Amino acid sequence: MTDKKAHLTIDGINTTIELPIYSSTIGPDVIDVTSITKNGFFTFDPGFMSTASCESGITFIDGEEGVLLHRGYPIEQLAVSSDYLETCYLLLNGELPTPAQKEEFTAAIKQHSAVDPSIANIIKSFKRESHPMAILCSAVAALAAVYNDEIDITNEASRKLTAYRLIGQMPTLSAMVYKHRQGEEFIAPDDSLSYAENYLNMTFGTAGKAPNVSKTIAKAMDRIFVLHADHEQNASTSTVRLSGSSGTNPFAAIAAGISTLWGPAHGGANEAVLEMLEEIGSVENIEACVARAKDKTSGFRLMGFGHRVYKNFDPRAKVMKQTCDEVLAELGLENDPLLAIAKRLEQIALEDPYFISKKLYPNVDFYSGIIMKAIGIPTEMFTVIFALGRAVGWYSHWDEMVSSPYKIGRPRQQYTGSPKRDYPQK
Ligand code: CMC
Repeated sequence: MTDKKAHLTIDGINTTIELPIYSSTIGPDVIDVTSITKNGFFTFDPGFMSTASCESGITFIDGEEGVLLHRGYPIEQLAVSSDYLETCYLLLNGELPTPAQKEEFTAAIKQHSAVDPSIANIIKSFKRESHPMAILCSAVAALAAVYNDEIDITNEASRKLTAYRLIGQMPTLSAMVYKHRQGEEFIAPDDSLSYAENYLNMTFGTAGKAPNVSKTIAKAMDRIFVLHADHEQNASTSTVRLSGSSGTNPFAAIAAGISTLWGPAHGGANEAVLEMLEEIGSVENIEACVARAKDKTSGFRLMGFGHRVYKNFDPRAKVMKQTCDEVLAELGLENDPLLAIAKRLEQIALEDPYFISKKLYPNVDFYSGIIMKAIGIPTEMFTVIFALGRAVGWYSHWDEMVSSPYKIGRPRQQYTGSPKRDYPQK
């Protein structure tokens, strides 16, 4: 908080409205506009382009500079030197764990990775061809039913247990969604494996057979989870906060976040990237695709390019690109036709004046889609993996909100409908 103030004058109002300004640790300070309703106005900011909806100490983004920090640590350093569970601990607790704390946390997550048998029945009741995000959303919402009587959102220990359950069960649920669609038997979690290995084994393993997971692929998977762990007040996280602000069950709030993530402008972009690459079909068709993306009347956008916040580069994309090259080399896929289209598209877009002038760079979804395709994950599962990684971010934001005094989220509107009128007399 500072002594700085903004002063607002409005035509027709004699007094100047004084608005307090609060300091951020880094990034823009915020003008507190809550008092302007007393003067008969609302602020108007569709798409929340300049509205800070909350105070938060979890993640910082500077889109112009391509900076992403979790609890102050740069994402590039976490991606290379940390791992997913350590990053989860950091997001949830604000500090990196000591070795003993990390061991305890890892053990707690593993202990809570098995799902209630009722969830298996719910997943099995879906048609095989159902979209995996629809199944995942329902499965996570069903956790609200399983644990509703045990959750006390005002109790810290109860919230901690909920975090263990969510982070522990997301890989299990995601793998079950995949296995159901494949018509294969579910595989139980194996606590001798790391978090990413366990997910890969439950997804690609065969029931009754010993796990056989490549270390390089598990490392790439873990990095995908780290790079998706949190991203400040994006659409899905804001949904979780808004939903949670009513005091609802946290699993229900997170199911709402999963629904939001599904959309192609958000998490669904990695799926859309692969669909676009498949539609392009061959390197010769790339120019036409780029021309279509530049034509406003086409309604088509180059999927995996551009970002609401990053207008320089997406720091996650840089690390993801490196992992992408490693995975393709490990799998001997450097010459895969689809990946050749992706590489050429990236090159053309990075050199094209339209994309340069609009600051449209490949985002994290561009490269994560390519990696997951190379690993053998079906396109429709990509957003499920995003959700798996992001669960801790959603949870941390919900937890941060409910641990301090908070209000139910209730945006206002500029009403442009009919003035009051009387119902016609009959
Ligand atoms: N292809 C072609 N033109 C584009 C693209 C694109 N991918 N993205 C933005 N533009 C143009 C847009 O037409 C507009 O042009 P003009 O100024 O002439 O009207 C300008 O660039 C600014 O676009 P905007 O829609 O105002 O930007 P935004 O900040 O609202 O949208 C975005 C950001 C990510 C929704 C958008 O860039 C997009 O649709 N990208 C493709 C989908 C995608 O890859 N999404 C994943 C985002 S990263 C994952 C995550 O964090 O969830």
